[in-house]
Amino acid sequence: MKKKIFSGVQPTGNLHLGNYLGAIKNFVELNNDEENKCIFCVVDLHAITVKQNPKELRSNIRETVATFLASGIDANKSIIFNQSTVSAHSEAAWVLGCVARTGWLNRMTQFKEKAGKDKEKASLGLYSYPVLMAADILLYDSTHVPVGNDQKQHLELCRDIAQKFNIDFAADNFFKVPEPLIQKDFSRIMSLKDGLKKMSKSDLSDFSRINLTDDEDQIISKIKKSKTDTLPLPNNFNELENRPEAKNLLGIYSSLKNSDLEKTIKNFAGKNFSEFKENLSQELVDKIGPISLEIKKLLGDKGYLDKILSNGFEKANEIATKKMKNIREIVGF
Ligand code: TYM
Repeated sequence: MKKKIFSGVQPTGNLHLGNYLGAIKNFVELNNDEENKCIFCVVDLHAITVKQNPKELRSNIRETVATFLASGIDANKSIIFNQSTVSAHSEAAWVLGCVARTGWLNRMTQFKEKAGKDKEKASLGLYSYPVLMAADILLYDSTHVPVGNDQKQHLELCRDIAQKFNIDFAADNFFKVPEPLIQKDFSRIMSLKDGLKKMSKSDLSDFSRINLTDDEDQIISKIKKSKTDTLPLPNNFNELENRPEAKNLLGIYSSLKNSDLEKTIKNFAGKNFSEFKENLSQELVDKIGPISLEIKKLLGDKGYLDKILSNGFEKANEIATKKMKNIREIVGF
């Protein structure tokens, strides 16, 4: 059976190494396998759960498409589209929101983190965010969803919603219950300034992350300034305990090299950070440098990026509209 892959990325700017190693790199590998049918969505409806500048949002949507393409996703072998153009996503989200229980949503740690101390001031959209995510996935009968570790709980919620809908409406197997695809080792890339904090677009310090649009000099200077500890590099995995920054940097290197962590540890055992950082910078410049240049090139041809999105819209809309018609019938509209 062909795998039906679906994933989404928010067009909120500053796409970074965490997005690349945790998700997009995996999208490219899945997309290269002829057996898979892949759909990659620019989730602008999710983006507006926190305030966005409309002009920047429009430009970030194109930049996300450019990042997909520059990273190696082939638009001829996948569907790339913009979520808000397919109205079935909003419609399905409402129906699924009537299936999901508030008790389930109250447990979502990402909402708690993003809403911060003053939950009453968070938007209703931010709270129901995972329901919209379930709509995205379920409309396409997706079987597999590649994401970083931070989306695991949302995927579990999506599975619960699918199962409850199928039971509530006696619609056996109507919604396919999707499997998350989360990489084993490098699914959570941490900040370059704090190995206990996730690398994130919203971190105020640009030195906390490598942006996919960073140039060679920026990459080298960010790695040079990245936080480390005072010990030499460890001799084995156990010695990484309580050394989050060392673990993160060694993990990034391994992931870029498609190698396992044990092997990387062995290669750099007992060396000092400055030597390791030179190797890491080189690897980043080799892998991220060309992506950064290609993103900038693609952004010069807005018409081409818009064409990719309009082709993607046609295909995605056809699939989603059909599924939505069935949802409407099942629900009794
Ligand atoms: P978003 O836009 O926050 O992130 C896009 C992808 O990047 C992964 N990611 C990371 N992986 C490892 N380390 C990090 N530091 C890191 N930061 C981000 C995320 O896990 C994600 O896979 N809710 C989703 C978008 C979404 C979606 C969907 C995903 C909407 N609908 C349907 C899958 C299926 C999000 O906000 O991703």
